[in-house]
Amino acid sequence: MDGITLRPGGAVDAGALARLHRAARAAALPGLHERWTEAEVAAWLRAVPMAEAGGVLVATDPAGGILGYLARDRTVDEVLHLYVAPGRQRRGVGTCLLRAAQREAGPRGLALFCLRRNHGARAFYERHGFRPTAHREDPSANEEGEPDVRYCWAPPTGSDDRSHRMSESTNEPTIHKGLVGVYADVSAVSKVMPETNSLTYRGYAVQDLAETCSFEEVAYLLWEGELPTARQLEAFRAETAAEREISPALHRVIREFPKDAHPMDAIRTAVSFMGLEDPETADVSHDAQYRKAKRLFARIPTAIGAAYRVSKGLDPVAPDPRHSFAENAFHLIQGRVPPPEVLKAFDVSMILYAEHTFNASTYTARLVTSSGADMHGAITAGIASLKGPLHGGANEAVMHMLKEIGDPKIAREWLQSRFDHKALVMGFGHRVYKSGDSRVPTMKKYAERMAEVVGDRTWMAISRELADEMLTKKNIHPNLDFPAGPAYYLMGFDIPLFTPIFVASRITGWSAHVLEQAADNRLIRPLSWYTGPEQRPVPPMSERG
Ligand SMILES: CC(C)(COP(=O)(O)OP(=O)(O)OC[C@H]1O[C@@H](n2cnc3c(N)ncnc32)[C@H](O)[C@@H]1OP(=O)(O)O)[C@@H](O)C(=O)NCCC(=O)NCCS
Repeated sequence: MDGITLRPGGAVDAGALARLHRAARAAALPGLHERWTEAEVAAWLRAVPMAEAGGVLVATDPAGGILGYLARDRTVDEVLHLYVAPGRQRRGVGTCLLRAAQREAGPRGLALFCLRRNHGARAFYERHGFRPTAHREDPSANEEGEPDVRYCWAPPTGSDDRSHRMSESTNEPTIHKGLVGVYADVSAVSKVMPETNSLTYRGYAVQDLAETCSFEEVAYLLWEGELPTARQLEAFRAETAAEREISPALHRVIREFPKDAHPMDAIRTAVSFMGLEDPETADVSHDAQYRKAKRLFARIPTAIGAAYRVSKGLDPVAPDPRHSFAENAFHLIQGRVPPPEVLKAFDVSMILYAEHTFNASTYTARLVTSSGADMHGAITAGIASLKGPLHGGANEAVMHMLKEIGDPKIAREWLQSRFDHKALVMGFGHRVYKSGDSRVPTMKKYAERMAEVVGDRTWMAISRELADEMLTKKNIHPNLDFPAGPAYYLMGFDIPLFTPIFVASRITGWSAHVLEQAADNRLIRPLSWYTGPEQRPVPPMSERG
């Protein structure tokens, strides 16, 4: 069999697609061969969430028939043979194929591609528990003069308590509280694979990048899609190092910040102010947005350092263009450059924090971008989102928790009191990883190294007790913030600086997503299901209360 095999992330060759088209034509199934070019199908198939799904159904338009079932580890030819038999009656074929495909896909479920105009098919798939997720509009209108919209439908997954179908008997929608399990779009920036606890940036395992690359190389990779050559890296470093100064006006504004302002509020305000000053703020072309991202990358540490030092009654330190990103960050905040092992641990944390698919702050930045807004607006909003303790703010909360416990001997007892109060334990749990965060082993290794360098083993000893007990009693694993918190503390940073340091890293991932969103944009605008009072007359003032 010389067909193709679809595997997660696997390529789809043009020859096989041509056969798919021919077979569709021979089977008199409309849709694919009329509307979809081979290149489009190839692009869509590559975007299929195969890592999660057990297979993919391809539905046709307008009759609602299923063209075929593309199984994991099966070839298109095999599948067509099985499911697209010429002369087959169209009515009922959908159910028959769906059942067969569901059986074959097993517990992983199915993903589905179909067209929006295909209302009959849509209702059919919804009845079978599929959830429409990513969609893309074809810029060229079809023969009815409407744009074709292709939906990627996520497979029916295990139920989440807080996602519920409001009523089985009516057409009320399924609400995905917290957007749990929803694919909101495609992205080529990074990939989380919870089933193997792994994470890749542009195809490279994050732990390999952390061990072998500098943060500047990773920033370049996230933006450009490829790692830099030595010459490209040198040019990138020179370009961004030359952009590190912040304006005298921003320095004046920073001096006006309340001395007890949280550094996250300070950096959010500083970035917003940079947007006021930037000569290219209004230009949302790709090139201008990219230049602004690089300026933010260069200047955010300067603003964090200036705001922090001023709040402590110290003078800001000027950035040094000869320093690496990590050296410069310490120089700006602490006024000194630490030994290489500390710089390496910091750089590792920057790499691990740089990007993580559609987390809350990244999605916030994409959402802002989707309205056509500019880079500074998107990043300001991203910072606001990151501050929350359920997200980036957790690294600060972890250190407060470790300090509150203070002694490894009482860690388990302390944890039990949290359990008794049904309280959250910061630095544990994750929306996507349920059996371990891919970034934790690397960060933990460097946090342990910091403990050795500094000669203060208390925090990691408490951490070990907590992690053991959480796993034993709750089966919940630590996330990246858990080792990052004590690592930053041991590097000599004040606790309120931990999340701003996260900002200095995540600006790379956020802006890579802003560029990606803008390159293939559609306004993000979900629906809400109204549960308020029925429509009623406005009462006069005398009848209220
Ligand atoms: C990250 C987080 C918001 C993910 O939330 P989520 O995907 O909605 O996960 P859920 O709230 O559905 O968690 C499932 C269960 O584990 C429990 N759980 C999850 N994280 C927990 C934590 N840190 N401490 C105690 N229990 C936790 C939940 O209470 C829930 O229990 P239940 O089923 O009895 O109600 C959540 O784990 C959390 O608040 N963690 C602490 C903050 C943190 O470290 N954030 C940084 C994330 S990188």
